[in-house]
Amino acid sequence: MLDALSTLRDHFPMVSDNQIYLDSAATAFTPQVVIDAMTDFYSNRYGTVNRAVYEKARVASELYHQARIQVQHLLGAAEPEEIIFTRGTTASLNLLASSFGQRFIRPGDAIVISEIEHHSNIVPWQMLCEQKEAVLRIVPVTDSGELIFEEFLRLLDKHVKLVSLAHVSNVLGTIHPVKKIIDATHDAGALICLDGAQAAPHLPINVQELDVDFYAFSGHKLYGPTGIGVLYGKRHLLEQMPPIEGGGDMIDQVTLARSTYAGLPTKFEAGTPMTSQAIGLGAAADFLQKIGMEQIARFENELLAYATKRLKDTPVTLLGTAPEKGAILSFTVPGVHPLDLATLLDCRGVSIRSGHHCSQPTMERFGVTACARASFGIYNTFEEIDKFISLLASVLNDM
Ligand code: ALA
Repeated sequence: MLDALSTLRDHFPMVSDNQIYLDSAATAFTPQVVIDAMTDFYSNRYGTVNRAVYEKARVASELYHQARIQVQHLLGAAEPEEIIFTRGTTASLNLLASSFGQRFIRPGDAIVISEIEHHSNIVPWQMLCEQKEAVLRIVPVTDSGELIFEEFLRLLDKHVKLVSLAHVSNVLGTIHPVKKIIDATHDAGALICLDGAQAAPHLPINVQELDVDFYAFSGHKLYGPTGIGVLYGKRHLLEQMPPIEGGGDMIDQVTLARSTYAGLPTKFEAGTPMTSQAIGLGAAADFLQKIGMEQIARFENELLAYATKRLKDTPVTLLGTAPEKGAILSFTVPGVHPLDLATLLDCRGVSIRSGHHCSQPTMERFGVTACARASFGIYNTFEEIDKFISLLASVLNDM
């Protein structure tokens, strides 16, 4: 086990006692161990991956493969080949929509999402449905931000081929009851993808225990680098799906007449891979596992409970009050534009996000055009929450 959570801040060069960073849901700071792993690659072990026999290339290929195993362990996947490296959650969901769509979606089929998804889990499905003359069905949520399960079950008829839902809502913070949702989806004969962008950095995930078919997340929210993400898929499904990008490495044989493709995971990773980013992500996955995902989830839940309680002393209205929530607090203040609030808090050293959070349908559902959002990571403290609340109160007082 790594340090107690109270000393974890020392691992993050960007964490400062003069600044309060409350936007880890957008992107999380990077621990030194991740920076060191990438610097070591560029300084001492740089080389091409899967393309040459000389030592530098072999070392780089081994490091890249090792990173896949580190991610496999974080997700509890059965095999490293089920981990596809992508550019991020957005790229993972687009890859899935294109490839799964080509292979499995026919006119008249249905795909199910919820009304509180991130745009990355809406737009690729809209594009697919348009191309394939399929139908997008939308599960509504309650005023607290929970999926209405009976409505979900009602939508799950024989036309549904895929359900794609956020594991944790990036605006409301709702942690959906994913095991129940996955089992119901399978009982209806459909497959399911979870957008784990807001879950993988904060909760223990075991894709085999969940029996989820696909799982997507981003490196940069998981204390890793930008420019890398993951699409997990069950081997037998990925094997049936066509590659989306053609090019180097993803092939078996190429002639000018036709090409055949490599096996997993290379089939989906055309071109020279994001080697340093994968190495950084692998280091981040190890870093989190050494702390313990259960411990992280417990700690962040305490932070959330404390911040929620403290916010009750202010005039804010919370968006998202589900009993099971990740470390995300979105709110509005009557008569105050969230952009003004975020700007004034920034002047006092507090970083929160404002706007529609890439989820305009969530805004519409809750009757707002924008909101403010504070989100927490493993480096945040109870003292920071106290300071945030008192600065928020003072900003509102001055307005
Ligand atoms: N998806 C990220 C967020 O919710 C950028 O802030």
